[in-house]
Amino acid sequence: MPDLTTHWLGLTLKSPFVVSACPISTDPALVERAVEAGAGAIVMHSLFEEQLTADQMAAHSLLDVLADSDAESCSFLPDVDAFSLDAEPYMRELERLRTRVDVPIVASLNGVTPGGWTRYARRLEAAGASALELNLYEVATEPDEDGAALEKRQVEVVASVVAAVSIPINVKLSPFYSSVPAFVRRLERAGAKGVAVFNRFYQPDVDIDELDVDRRLVHSTPAELPLRLHALAILSPVTRLSLACTGGVHGGRDAAKAILSGAHVVALASVLLQHGPEHLLVIKSELCEWLDRKGYRGSAEARGVLDLSSSPDPHAWERTNYTRVVKGWRASPRGPGATP
Ligand SMILES: Cc1cc2nc3c(=O)[nH]c(=O)nc-3n(C[C@H](O)[C@H](O)[C@H](O)COP(=O)(O)O)c2cc1C
Repeated sequence: MPDLTTHWLGLTLKSPFVVSACPISTDPALVERAVEAGAGAIVMHSLFEEQLTADQMAAHSLLDVLADSDAESCSFLPDVDAFSLDAEPYMRELERLRTRVDVPIVASLNGVTPGGWTRYARRLEAAGASALELNLYEVATEPDEDGAALEKRQVEVVASVVAAVSIPINVKLSPFYSSVPAFVRRLERAGAKGVAVFNRFYQPDVDIDELDVDRRLVHSTPAELPLRLHALAILSPVTRLSLACTGGVHGGRDAAKAILSGAHVVALASVLLQHGPEHLLVIKSELCEWLDRKGYRGSAEARGVLDLSSSPDPHAWERTNYTRVVKGWRASPRGPGATP
C-alpha cells in the first residue's frame, strides 16, 4: 500500500484527500464517514462576510438600545463579540467536529473587503480550527476599481487575517487574475501558507422562458480540472506555499493528475455530495493502484513530477503548447463538427 501521507499548511495529513468547503461539514455523521473513508482533513462550509457584518450590526444596535436605556450601562457592557449571533452556531459546529474526528478541521471565512468581520478569525482559532481558509470569491463589477486596486484590497484582507491569528491561512483563489503567479507571490509575502486553485464560479444561467435568472447549482465535472492542472504546474516551481487543487477532481486518476502537477492535496465537494463520503474509498484505491503501477512508493514522490520546473522558459513553453494545440486540429474528413 503506497504511503499517502502529505504535508499541507504545515500540517501532516494521513492522505491528500480533503473534504472541500460544502454542506458535508454541517453533519458530523457525514464527516465521520468521510474520515473513515480516508479524508485527511475537513474544510468547513464558509462563514460569509455578509453574515458576519449583519451579525455585527445586530450586536451594535443591541448595544445602542442598552446604552440608551441607562446612562451608566456603558461601564458594564460586554465586548461586542459577546452579542454575536450568527457566528455562534458555526463555532459550536467546529467544536463538535473536533471532538468527533481526529483529522485537522479547517474553518472557512468568505469575504473580500477589509473590515471588522476578519476579527472572527481569532474566534475560529480559539474554537480549535487547525487552519483557516479564506475564500476571496468575488466577481468584478465596478469599472472604477481596476485590477491593481482590487488585488491590493484582497491582499489587505489576507494580511489582516494573517495578523489576527497564529494558525496557517489558506487562500482560495479565483482563476481570473492577470497573473496568478504574481498574485500568489504577494499572498506569500502577506503571510499566507497556501492557496487553493480555484473557486468555481456559480454563474447564474438565463431562463429565456421565465425571463429570469436560473440559480441552480450545477455540480462540477472533470472537464474543469485542466484549468487547475495548468495553474498548479506553473505555481509549483515558483512558490513555497502549499497547493490545494479544488474543482473537477472526481476520481483517483484526477487526483493523480493534480498531484503530478504539484498539488499537495485535492479538495473534493461535488463527487462526495453526489455519491456519498464512502466514495472516497474508491478514489483512494484508484490513486493507490496508479501509484503502484507507476512504481511510486507514495503520493509525495509523484508530487510535481509534471510541473514546469524542468522547463527553462515556462512562458515560451506555454506559447508552444498553445500553438501546437491550435495548429494540430484537423477537421474530420466528413467536415467540421462530424464525429470521427
Ligand atoms: C453545495 C456546495 C456548497 C459549497 N459551499 C462552499 C462554501 O461555503 N465555501 C467555499 O469556499 N466553497 C464552497 N463550495 C465550493 C467547494 O468547496 C469546491 O471548491 C467546489 O465545489 C469545487 O470542487 P468540486 O469540483 O469537487 O465540487 C461549495 C460547493 C458546493 C457544491
